Order: sequence, then structure tokens, then C-alpha cells
Amino acid sequence: MNNNLGYQGYRQPQRGASDELLVRISQGTACGEYLRRYWQPVALTEEVGDLPRLIRVLGEELVLFRDKTGRYGLVHKQCPHRRASMEFGICDENGIRCCYHGWLFDIDGRILEIPGQPGEHAELVMKQTSLGAYPVKEFRGLIFAYLGPIEEMPEFPVYDTLEIEGQTLVPYRADYNCNWLQVLDAILDPIHTSFLHSRMSRVQFSEGMGEIGELLFYQRDMSFLGTNVRRVGDNVWVRVNELVLPNYTQAGAAFSADGTRHIYYGRSAFSRWVVPIDDENTTAFAWAIFGERADPEEYNTPEGPDLIEQGELMNRSYEERQRFPGDAEAVEGMGVIADQKMEHLVPSDKAIILYRKKLRKLCRELEQGAQAGQVTGLWQNPIPTYGGDTVLNIPPNGQDDAELLRDIGDRVMQIQFDAEPLQGAARDDRVIDALKALEAEYRR
Ligand code: FES
Ligand SMILES: [Fe+2]
Repeated sequence: MNNNLGYQGYRQPQRGASDELLVRISQGTACGEYLRRYWQPVALTEEVGDLPRLIRVLGEELVLFRDKTGRYGLVHKQCPHRRASMEFGICDENGIRCCYHGWLFDIDGRILEIPGQPGEHAELVMKQTSLGAYPVKEFRGLIFAYLGPIEEMPEFPVYDTLEIEGQTLVPYRADYNCNWLQVLDAILDPIHTSFLHSRMSRVQFSEGMGEIGELLFYQRDMSFLGTNVRRVGDNVWVRVNELVLPNYTQAGAAFSADGTRHIYYGRSAFSRWVVPIDDENTTAFAWAIFGERADPEEYNTPEGPDLIEQGELMNRSYEERQRFPGDAEAVEGMGVIADQKMEHLVPSDKAIILYRKKLRKLCRELEQGAQAGQVTGLWQNPIPTYGGDTVLNIPPNGQDDAELLRDIGDRVMQIQFDAEPLQGAARDDRVIDALKALEAEYRR
């Protein structure tokens, strides 16, 4: 050590500032408005029974319910009459009734009935006001809502990995006691998999992830991709982590991909949204995906979703968390809202730098009147995605191996980009044929 930076506790500040533009998500903030232009999961379907459920999302307290005909509603907590809470409302055949004076609201918040009042008064109130409500969509065990201006509601995007035949989608939630941005960052930080999840305490995913490999970053329209290319014996393992703006994430298999087994175009083992609950709490709503092209069914256990989400079970003793830290420990330990301005970023943080910069730009553009871009504006459902694993048998060939890995990784990505306009089996066939041809070319 030849610098004078030892024992600088007194001189170095311990707290700094957060990336205010991105960490604040309430209505009226730049990022809060941006996030409100997208469908967001807000609950698991199984969490909504015959009683209304008080939830919090994007800093709003809301009541989610299912009426007696099976329709879902998401409404403001407070009744427009005299502000009773709709969490104590009664689910009706046709919407929800406030418990206090029995006003009946449809799932879109319009008042259907004001009992016990002279007709003309009731009608006048019905014409003038409603209960704030948001559109809801139930999809495969998750409940999504759109919290933005109704006239800007986008088409509901269905990502291609949810449409693969023979896969099992297991809905799950994971709650984090910290700001959303620090939870989201991890998806574009592929190197943490080699440390937090492999080398630091115990191997939490597959053995092979301890190897850092070569890192490549891509941006495709709204998708940011962190590609990790590893040498495993005579194989080259290309793994893609993916963020689709603003908060949708995917990656390859958590347990079964380790680079030893040939995989042509394996797909994501989770499909996940990092949803801000308020400025200081976040929930990941997701499906764990099991099947031949993700993690096999044998990993579909009660613990499976927690382990896929963060490498360890979510609720553990403090000692367990210290001995075997997972993502919750890494990101909650930063404090409820991390001081991004005190970070010291390095080359492996490149994708984080890029996506935050892009997010800031998009938030500002929205403030200035631009429309928020939508994946459904770029592609027809199902939307092409990239998270997954490919393992090709390409032994070292005398060329510098790091360079070879980067070349192959890039070719594998280009093959997927070229096949974007195709869908379903046609895209699978095109990608798999091209991967086989690539493998043959290098083995010649
Ligand atoms: S407060 Fe809701 S009906 Fe009166
Ligand atoms: Fe992680």
C-alpha cells in the first residue's frame, strides 16, 4: 500500500445521496409516473379470496377484491362518501359495497347504488363522483393492474417464455424491505452470481456459476442483456440475464445449467417483475418456470421459488443470513434506500450504469410529454425475450480462449436477434438450427 487511505473513518462520509429521480415512485414523481405507464403485478391470485384485500403498490394504498361474479376490482382505499375503508367492504354480485352506508361500486369505481337516500340526490352524486379504480387483469396466477391514466393504457404484454408448451409456471412473491432500484440492479450484475451465489458462502445455484467467464452487454430497444460466456471443459456456456424496461426480468436456469450438459436455446427459469410497494419496500412478483427448457420439474419444490429468487430461503434467522447471505441480505443491507451517489462503479457494473441512465432519460422524456414506449408497440404478443442458457460443444482451438468465448457469445446473441421476427416453433427451429451450424463451424 503506498497511498494514504488507511484509517479514514473520521474523514470519509458514511451517508450520501440516492438517485432521487429513480428511487421515488409515488404518483407525481418522474419515475412513479413512468412506472405507471405499464401493467404491474400487484398480488398472487391465491391471495384474493372472498374478502377484500388491502394492498400497497407504487406508494398507494388500494383495495383488491373479487366480486361474486368473479370479476376483479382494484380501488382506492377510502370511500368517496365519508371515507370509510373499502378493506371492510362487502363483495357483492356486482362490485363492492362500502360497509358504512352500503354504497355499491362497480369494479370500475362507478357508483351503482346509494341506498336510503332520495332518488334525485343519489343520482346527482352518482353523476358527479366515483370511487378511484384501476383496470385489473388476472393472468396465470398473478393479478396485474394498470395504475396510469386510463387513456394511455397499453396492451397487456405476453412474453414468449410464458407460451412455451409443456412448462409449469409457479406464481410466487418475494418481499424486500428496501427500495426497488437496488433489487432491480441485480439482474444486470451477472458477476454477483459468481460471488454472492457461488464463492462467498455456499454454492446456491449450479456449481459452474462460480466461474466468472467473459461478460458482454447488449441493448435491444427496451431490453438490456447481460451475457456471461464461460468455458466448461470442451463446452462454451452462454447465459443471458435480461431486463425489459422498466422492471421485467429473466435469466436462465438456476440449478440445472452448469455448462456440462449440451443445451440448444434453453429459456428462462423465472419471469419476474420488481414492483415498488412504496419508496422503502419492494415485492418481486414472478413465475418460477419448470420444464425441459428451464429448470426441470424435480426442482419444483415448495422451496424452489425462494431459491430461484435469491439463492436461499427468504425468511431465516439472523445467524443463517450472516453465514449464507442471499440477494435479500445483499440488497437490504444497503439500507432502505441505497446511496447510489456513494457507489464506486467498475467495468462489470456497465449494464447497471447504462440501464439507469436510460431509465432517467425515459422518465424525463415522459415528464416533457413523450409517450412511454411499450414492447407491444415493437412486437406482437408473444414478445420475444432472451433470458436463458445455451451450451455448445466447442473445444479451445488455439485462438486466445477469452476472445473465442466473446466471439461465440456474440454469435449466439446475434442468432437470437436475427430470429426476433419469428414466433413460437418457427423461431425455436431457426435459432436451434443456427446454433448447431455455429457449433459445426467451430468444430471443423
Ligand atoms: S362512508 Fe362509504 S358509504 Fe358512507
Ligand atoms: Fe442474485
